[in-house]
Amino acid sequence: MNVNLQNVNSIHKPRIFNNPERFVEGWYWVIPSKHLGVGKVKAVTILGRELAIYRGKDKRVVIVDAYCPHMGAHLAEGKVEGNELRCFFHHWKFDAQGFCVDIPCLDEPITVKLKTWPTAEKYGMIWVWTGEVPKQPLPFVLELENKECDVAFGDYFLMNCHPNAVMINPIDSQHFNTVHKLPSEIHFEKQELNQNAIVFSNTTSISRNSFFLRLIRRFGKNITHNICYWYGSTNIVTIGTDFRPVHIMFTVRLLEGGQSEGQVILISKKRQGIFGWLYNRVLLWLTKIVGKYFVQDDMKIVQTINFDLKTPIKADQSIMQFVNHLERQKPLMLKSWQLARSQNVEMKEPREKWQDTKSND
Ligand code: FES
Ligand SMILES: [Fe+2]
Repeated sequence: MNVNLQNVNSIHKPRIFNNPERFVEGWYWVIPSKHLGVGKVKAVTILGRELAIYRGKDKRVVIVDAYCPHMGAHLAEGKVEGNELRCFFHHWKFDAQGFCVDIPCLDEPITVKLKTWPTAEKYGMIWVWTGEVPKQPLPFVLELENKECDVAFGDYFLMNCHPNAVMINPIDSQHFNTVHKLPSEIHFEKQELNQNAIVFSNTTSISRNSFFLRLIRRFGKNITHNICYWYGSTNIVTIGTDFRPVHIMFTVRLLEGGQSEGQVILISKKRQGIFGWLYNRVLLWLTKIVGKYFVQDDMKIVQTINFDLKTPIKADQSIMQFVNHLERQKPLMLKSWQLARSQNVEMKEPREKWQDTKSND
């Protein structure tokens, strides 16, 4: 089969994949929880939108649009009072739902509301939902759903490429041989969990003589290797044996100019007692080293690539499955966080037009 994807794309162009101005409605990382103490307020820019973030007396985090609805002062210059935020300019005060509850020069405040965004904390990170009401859960490790976890932060990174170039790396089966010099070919099978989550499981049968296989088998019988994607922008690589897998989360945001910023988070099931705690510290530290080892090889690519998947072949099938999954999600515009509408592609277009199987071989 010889399908020219460039021609296919000119009619059915992906709306979100590799688009420097669009992202998927979902949960995105903001700042580490420990960077926001009680009573503190900060300015953040997430996916091009300027926001103010504060933590009230009740320890809950509130995220609001940055500029005061009175005259536009930046609310991160304001002051947290209890669970509310007071603008520094004319001292209007807003509650955690954004309602104005005090205007010092009036007996009664007028009806005015500050835009607030759904917020949550998980894995030591503050997250924001980029729509009105969260429709799906925060990114989580499938194997550890509802379990207590220990986490360690890896590197924060800025990359000179679109987040999708970073995201697809762990399912780019060709590059395991060519970049990471791993001995066997890797095959993935996909399973869509919901509209915003997909998991790729490694189904490769590795040679019994493989050094890596023998090494991993020392720690348990069955080998686990899967990559779970949330909102096309956070992936969790799970690798190891069924008893002692490690989980590495790469959570990435699109920056203006089509670049990426991200954070690595290492996650492990919580273990009891001081020895359990120590065990996890060592495990997370080792995971960090393994993560760094792989990222180091990939660095040269993501810092110099002019990312454009023009000529997919059969070996890129998992990547194309990821693209199709991404394209079925709700596209928002950078900065405004409004629904992105395309002139030539309708929101409800049947996605079969950009099939997993369309490739050049
Ligand atoms: S600008 Fe905020 S109270 Fe006036
Ligand atoms: Fe890689």
